Amino acid sequence: MNIVTCVAPVNIAVIKYWGKRDEKLILPINDSISASLDTKQLCAKTTVMASCNFKTDRIWLNGREESMDNPRLQNCLQQIKKRAQLSLEMKNWHIHICSVNNFPTAAGLASSAAGYACLASALAKLYNIKGDISDIARSGSGSACRSVYGGFVRWYMGSDPQGTDSIAKEIVPSNYWPEMRILILVVNDSKKKVSSAIGMKNSVETSELLKYRANKCVPERVELMQQAIIDRNFDKFAELTIKDSNQMHAVCLDTYPPCSYLTDVTHSIIDIVHAYNDAVNCLKVAYTNDAGPNTVLYLLEKDVPSVLGIIDYYFPQNDNSNYIRGNAPEIIKPSAELIEKINRDK
Ligand code: ADP
Ligand code: DP6
Ligand code: CO
Repeated sequence: MNIVTCVAPVNIAVIKYWGKRDEKLILPINDSISASLDTKQLCAKTTVMASCNFKTDRIWLNGREESMDNPRLQNCLQQIKKRAQLSLEMKNWHIHICSVNNFPTAAGLASSAAGYACLASALAKLYNIKGDISDIARSGSGSACRSVYGGFVRWYMGSDPQGTDSIAKEIVPSNYWPEMRILILVVNDSKKKVSSAIGMKNSVETSELLKYRANKCVPERVELMQQAIIDRNFDKFAELTIKDSNQMHAVCLDTYPPCSYLTDVTHSIIDIVHAYNDAVNCLKVAYTNDAGPNTVLYLLEKDVPSVLGIIDYYFPQNDNSNYIRGNAPEIIKPSAELIEKINRDK
């Protein structure tokens, strides 16, 4: 088989990855935990094709051709080639990659995670690579290693300087806590001004608070979060999620020059969530923000109607979708149209 199509999920971290100890190998300064979303709703879809007729490697992202001269992409391809079970003739074939996200790209909704997990999974299938491929996805974008699995996933920072133990593992599968729901509130879908990669590099270089976070807070918090998930303890889960998101954004402000990903609308959503939780006298909703203004709410299914009602009341224009937690990347059948598109070399 020389053409493969794959879909892979977005993941939204509840204990955030923010900071690398090795920029080139993409090794983080702390463990992180996320949930993968359902690929039937939000996903990256990537088709890869290898052919002896292709003159060069090429990539199209959301319909536009991009340069292959991207170190993250090259890292991923190198890792793949190292582990590939290739016939001798296939070794010299070039590849074409076509990827589309069905949600905003580079807007703080984990497109790099879904995108690189999808690419790694599609290439792994194409080149017959077996076993864990979270390290391959990680070499494209750190958070991508968590999108290689469904359910709740933990990325272990590892201790090997070469990063061999910096891999993701499933904590529980997607059907473990079936009542859990995720609402994505799209505040602004345009491309962020400071990418996650640059933002966290600046934080590592200048934020004292980040050192405190990575060394003193997250090691304990990540264990508490894992236990809260295993116990299906929403109250604890919500408290840790909220605190960790706010701490990451406090680090962003502690960065010099500061990077601020949250907008006034984001802050109003945060206020509304706290007011709601106060009014019902318990934690019914948790919020979290990646490096962007778009807030993600974690809540239980029974509370979705009343929370959606409140959000609709304050933000009537917002297209709030109710996402469930989902699966790992999946290989699917490529469409005839896609095969025709990708099979070109001019
Ligand atoms: P996000 O918050 O969306 O993850 P990032 O700044 O981390 O934003 O990463 C955005 C970058 O990830 C894009 O500019 C692109 O290089 C890469 N990316 C996004 N989607 C894909 C995809 N489907 N396939 C390959 N690369 C992707
Ligand atoms: C705020 O994985 O996008 O979403 O490794 O440089 O590609 P690179 O960064 P990326 O950073 C994600 C940061 C985050 C938190 C998280 O997903 O854990
Ligand atoms: Co990203």
